[in-house]
Amino acid sequence: WVLMATGRSPTNIAVIKYWGKRDEALILPVNDSISVTLDPDHLSATTTVAVSPSFPSDRMWLNGKEISLSGGRFQSCLREIRKRARDFEDEKKGINIKREDWEKLHVHIASYNNFPTAAGLASSAAGLACFVFTLGKIMNVKEDYGELSSIARQGSGSACRSIYGGFVKWCMGKKDDGSDSIAVQLADETHWNDLVIIIAVVSSKQKETSSTSGMRDSVETSPLLQYRAQTVVPSRVLKMEEAIKNHDFESFAKLTCADSNQFHAVCLDTSPPIFYMNDTSHRYVLAVHWLGILIISLVEKWNHSEGTPQVAYTFDAGPNAVLIAQNRKTAALLLRKLLYYFPPEDKDLSSYLVGDKSIL
Ligand code: DP6
Repeated sequence: WVLMATGRSPTNIAVIKYWGKRDEALILPVNDSISVTLDPDHLSATTTVAVSPSFPSDRMWLNGKEISLSGGRFQSCLREIRKRARDFEDEKKGINIKREDWEKLHVHIASYNNFPTAAGLASSAAGLACFVFTLGKIMNVKEDYGELSSIARQGSGSACRSIYGGFVKWCMGKKDDGSDSIAVQLADETHWNDLVIIIAVVSSKQKETSSTSGMRDSVETSPLLQYRAQTVVPSRVLKMEEAIKNHDFESFAKLTCADSNQFHAVCLDTSPPIFYMNDTSHRYVLAVHWLGILIISLVEKWNHSEGTPQVAYTFDAGPNAVLIAQNRKTAALLLRKLLYYFPPEDKDLSSYLVGDKSIL
């Protein structure tokens, strides 16, 4: 027999960034973070997990290609889910699995991203959240979403936030065992659904410094990181929660841009410095560098001239710009501006990733 389950999980975009771990093995962060989970139709991972007594080992395929499962992070998630597995019975199929039997059963995992291949966007958050959720379903795990988020966290920090839709907060927690470092939903996906997220794809290349090693270097060398984690983020998180609750776009946009800029300031404060908004190894280094800066100055100027923010920008550990518009009308205007300044003839620099193209 074979037992199978399929799940789908979207990626999330942090508006208050997670950057820095206080425990590397358990993936415990130095500050809380807040994100918005995207619509699953556009940027998500779909994962099928199968379990069978005839499988001799655990195996995994990503986008059709087999990948090694030996990495500690997948193993941590597998181990944590297996620990919580329960008895399972399907009389019709004659399947009867006792909780202790799950340890002996191997899994096959096939995961696909629906990210356009040119997107160059992080997919680990969606992939690991989906893996944990689907594995939990098949192994009859009954733990709540908070507990599942703490397992996904051990795969990749940002993955814990993708367990929920809508606006999500990852509470850093205080305990050494990480049991209180979980994600909670601040508001579901129907709340503030006027917001439109546009991702301007600047480079599809793999980032040069992974988030994991970049944040390790920042923790070890950046004095600004300590100040940010202890002094800035706690009050910023409270203000962001208020802004989300009250649909207060002005505060939301200001906080989002400020936090992205501070995160990149921490990267520059790291030794050696990390430049995520450009890509030093690449041919079109200058163009890519300038594009990030130009997008920021375009948005800053526009917001300034209107007297109130129209659009927020945020950049993760790479040069692609995530732009958040207050509504469809502003999003359409923004897209026209982007297409005017960065005309799409130049494929590398101006292929915009937009889920709902009808917005134009
Ligand atoms: C800049 O979750 O990819 O996107 O926990 O080491 O797997 P690991 O790092 P990861 O870091 C994401 C960093 C970020 C900000 C964020 O998503 O909050």
